[in-house]
Amino acid sequence: MRKYKAIIAREITNLLENVDAANIEGLIEYPPNPEMGDLSLPCFKLSKLLRKPPQAIAEELKSRINLGEVERIEAVSGYLNFYLDSARFAVSVIGEALAQGTRYGSRNIGDGARVVIDYSSPNIAKPFHIAHLRSTVIGNALYRIHKFLGYDCVGINHLGDWGTQFGKLIVAYRLWGDAQTVEQDGIDELLRLYVKFHEEADGNPSLEDEARSWFVRMEQGDGDALALWRWFVDISLAEFRRIYELLGVFFDSYAGESFYNDRMEAVVAELREKALLEEDGGAWLVRLEAYDMPPALMLKKDGSSLYHTRDITAALYRKEVYDFCKAIYVTDYAQNLHFAQWFKVVELMGRDWAKDLVHVPFGRVSLEGASLSTRRGNVLKLEDVLNQAIAKTREIMESRPQPIEDLDAAARQVGVGAIIFNDLSSGRIKDIDFKWEDVLNFDGESGPYVQYTHARACSVLAKAKAAGLASGQAADGAAPIGSEGGDAAGEVVVIGREDGRASDTASLNGTVVNGIVSNAALTGLPMNDATVRLVKELSLFGEKVELAMHKLEPSIVARYLIDLSQTFNRFYHECRIMAEEEGVRNARLALVRAVKITLGNGLSLIGLAAPEKI
Ligand code: ARG
Repeated sequence: MRKYKAIIAREITNLLENVDAANIEGLIEYPPNPEMGDLSLPCFKLSKLLRKPPQAIAEELKSRINLGEVERIEAVSGYLNFYLDSARFAVSVIGEALAQGTRYGSRNIGDGARVVIDYSSPNIAKPFHIAHLRSTVIGNALYRIHKFLGYDCVGINHLGDWGTQFGKLIVAYRLWGDAQTVEQDGIDELLRLYVKFHEEADGNPSLEDEARSWFVRMEQGDGDALALWRWFVDISLAEFRRIYELLGVFFDSYAGESFYNDRMEAVVAELREKALLEEDGGAWLVRLEAYDMPPALMLKKDGSSLYHTRDITAALYRKEVYDFCKAIYVTDYAQNLHFAQWFKVVELMGRDWAKDLVHVPFGRVSLEGASLSTRRGNVLKLEDVLNQAIAKTREIMESRPQPIEDLDAAARQVGVGAIIFNDLSSGRIKDIDFKWEDVLNFDGESGPYVQYTHARACSVLAKAKAAGLASGQAADGAAPIGSEGGDAAGEVVVIGREDGRASDTASLNGTVVNGIVSNAALTGLPMNDATVRLVKELSLFGEKVELAMHKLEPSIVARYLIDLSQTFNRFYHECRIMAEEEGVRNARLALVRAVKITLGNGLSLIGLAAPEKI
């Protein structure tokens, strides 16, 4: 649809003086129902500029616009409504999807500009909490969406790997721990030690002093202290990496809080030099009352630095090293104030790029109504949740009549996909209640539902292929269908390569020219209601992806995938494919292929696998 908006905007711009195509394009809307057209220009938005009443503008434009793509134009109550030629539109949309393959929906908006995304960022020696999952999957989706739109992304895992808690852990380990149990039980044991420290310290305050002094030793570079710390980090990372592997998430950098240790002094010096630091009972802070915020603490009484100081230091470092146009931080909304405070401090330090720092907050997760807390004991471990999802998915799959070839792989992709999708399918700021019933509802608005729909499209195409029929098959390296001596030779509908380049091996009949289908074959597509809706839904993909980027809201892509799946399933139930005569069948197969491509691209953008058989 993006293309049509552009075509219409260009035409109108040519007809009017003093307006620019980008502005017109931005004004074009989707009418709330199809009777009001496929696209619409609200002319009252031009009325002031052109000094004419909206309806007069609409009527004048209506009489002058001449576009082959548009079947009919109406000027109604100041709106100029465009009705597209649905058959022609279908040819264009399907052709574009098939020609662009894995690039369908993408656009080079970023032009290589850098976007740094700080996500996941769990704390060492603490379990990977379900809130870290939200950060991980939202951050991963934002990474993929930006990349798809031409940005050069850097994913950073800002590990919580420094702070006084490590002093406590060292004390606890030395008093009550042993190496073997830590190696064996990993984070569980580290957490047990940490909890025990707090229990014991309640009655024995000298433990706190001891912990502080171990942390001071760490900060001074003491070998013994650092060796223990490093070991805790490695033990924790091994567990985190297992989770990332399950989720299919990766990072370009694991520079955690400790990475900035020797860079903070310069930042504190600059704050001092710029007279931003103020003493308060031995501690140092930046006052932010003028901006309606409490002060940001920069140095504790004992001189140790804080979360704020580290974030500011990390941002300065990232700007210098990556020269970002946007730096995104994905955390729970409980950290809203923290980010607002230090973003302000960076601005006060005179960095004009402070405006490019973006906090992307998200809501809390509760489990079947019960709230989850990191405090003592009551922790929901993400790895357990993922493994349970896989096991439950496996059970569901096993109970189905059709056996699955690689059950383990399928259960993993769908089980993990269910968890990821559940996290992304509602607006990120909303609190979510995690309910197994919804997460694994294969017919509801779930990841499995989208994955199954994708697999259904794949299976239609596979059947066609097995029958030696044309299927709009992309020339994914192999010889195109139809050239294999089947009776469909020369009648392949539309062929494109999924790597996004126009097909060079398979342009039978010159089917795809610059992504536009010029083949009469697709005009065999009967434009019934289910088809018209499906084509329209397909055409919206690119814009949804852009919107998701602008709003930093992967749920827009997730919701779109549900809509597309529902629209496709309706088409699938209402329209026969294989039993139709050749022209119709081939055209419908091409449409199915376009759906498969779009669902696959969308799933990949939000970090889900798109298995072909499940
Ligand atoms: N480790 C922090 C936590 O678990 C999240 C860090 C987010 N990133 C940042 N640059 N502050 O709450």
